[in-house]
Amino acid sequence: MVEHQPPVGEVPLAALTRAEIAGLEPLLQVRRMEVEARLDEAALAAPADAEQLAQVVRNLLENAVRHGREGGRVVVSAGAGETGGQRAGVVLAVADDGPGIPAEHIPRLTERFYRVDAGRSRSAGGTGLGLAIVKHIVNRHRGRLVIESEEGAGAVFRVWLPGRLAAARRQPRAAA
Ligand SMILES: Nc1ncnc2c1ncn2[C@@H]1O[C@H](COP(=O)(O)OP(=O)(O)OP(=O)(O)O)[C@@H](O)[C@H]1O
Ligand SMILES: [Mg+2]
Repeated sequence: MVEHQPPVGEVPLAALTRAEIAGLEPLLQVRRMEVEARLDEAALAAPADAEQLAQVVRNLLENAVRHGREGGRVVVSAGAGETGGQRAGVVLAVADDGPGIPAEHIPRLTERFYRVDAGRSRSAGGTGLGLAIVKHIVNRHRGRLVIESEEGAGAVFRVWLPGRLAAARRQPRAAA
């Protein structure tokens, strides 16, 4: 089973994130929201599975748009990450300026079918599975998901993953 095997590829986070933002364009227009992308082109998640990381980005972006503030702004960033350990890492973050999440709910968000406000979330179109899937994928990558929110001031979802910054391509040196 794929879940029990570690991923093997290398995933450039900037390109993957841009593709997911583009896919959400219709929903962004409906919600009159803007996405600001701060992406380090060198950020590589590895070992990593591109399809699964796309799912992570899609779920987090979709949450920011569906559960965030209509007319609001979402900031997506990808870059070198604090590892807190010995391994090098990259961090992907999605921040919104919506209503946020009351502190007591944060530890339970990744439970399957868990929704902060079932009525509101249902009208926002959710079944409560997105973050459970995100958590599962992040665990498979031996990464970490950190959720921070101040009620009324938005939420930030940070995913730390093993990876590195790709070495910058060297400019060909001019002949002396
Ligand atoms: N950015 C956010 N701002 C405020 N609340 C959020 C945000 N992201 C998630 N939540 C809350 O966490 C709950 C769980 O999120 P999750 O993605 O697991 O499910 P969902 O979005 O409701 O449904 P699904 O992802 O299956 O379509 C949501 O129902 C919502 O209450
Ligand atoms: Mg969701």
